[in-house]
Amino acid sequence: MTTGVPSRDTEAIPLWNNAYEPAQLGGAANLWGDPPVPFAHTAAEMFAAASASVILDLPCGDGRNLPPLANGAPILLAGDTSLNAMAIAEKVTDRAGIRGNVVFIRTDVFDTGLLDNSIDGIFCWDLLGHLTNPEDALRELYRITRPGGTIVANMWTMNDCQVSDPLIKEIAPKEYIDHFDFYCRFYDRDDLDALLDCVGLALDSVEVASWWEPPHAGYRDYEHQHESLIFTVKKSGG
Ligand SMILES: C[S@@+](CC[C@H](N)C(=O)[O-])C[C@H]1O[C@@H](n2cnc3c(N)ncnc32)[C@H](O)[C@@H]1O
Repeated sequence: MTTGVPSRDTEAIPLWNNAYEPAQLGGAANLWGDPPVPFAHTAAEMFAAASASVILDLPCGDGRNLPPLANGAPILLAGDTSLNAMAIAEKVTDRAGIRGNVVFIRTDVFDTGLLDNSIDGIFCWDLLGHLTNPEDALRELYRITRPGGTIVANMWTMNDCQVSDPLIKEIAPKEYIDHFDFYCRFYDRDDLDALLDCVGLALDSVEVASWWEPPHAGYRDYEHQHESLIFTVKKSGG
């Protein structure tokens, strides 16, 4: 999709789309399960308190976080590279009665096609740690954030359950390839600071938090506990 993107990030795009194929889901309605991550509620409250008009869930995956995020602004853009994922997400929005507030866009975090300074708040969950080039993704998210707007994102820590998954393979310190051939990078606070320094961004807030998730159909077949650095970056101005 985008020139200059390291090949592993580009090559992962069709793999992700396959992960949402009905055959892969084995009869389950979705890949990630229904409960939203707790921080989707928190982000929506933050966006609403700032009177956001247009917010973006990127990547939206198969839509578990869309119902709470829809409380964050009148218009919720839901973007992902996976059409299979967004087909499931659309049903989620129908069931939640929020379809009229959500605009789906097939888009790549490295090149969203959105205007500069156009989005009041961005929720970017469980993507940056999968990227070998999170720097360019963050640059793009920052470009489209309006001055005064906020990006909410996470980076898994080394205490995240994925590190001890029996099928994951370490390729370098804190870097792994999982059983679906997805790249996974785990961060501590210094790593996060270094990443943001590298792209010239300042942390607005950061916390370490853990939460439980149900099994993910065909991908992680057991209940598991994630741990992440959850951070916000605010665009200056506004
Ligand atoms: C682990 S899932 C997380 C989905 C969602 N944020 C959630 O919490 O349920 C990662 C998602 O990133 C999407 N993705 C992978 N590469 C992408 C890219 N370059 N741009 C946008 N989305 C991408 C995949 O299709 C997948 O839906």
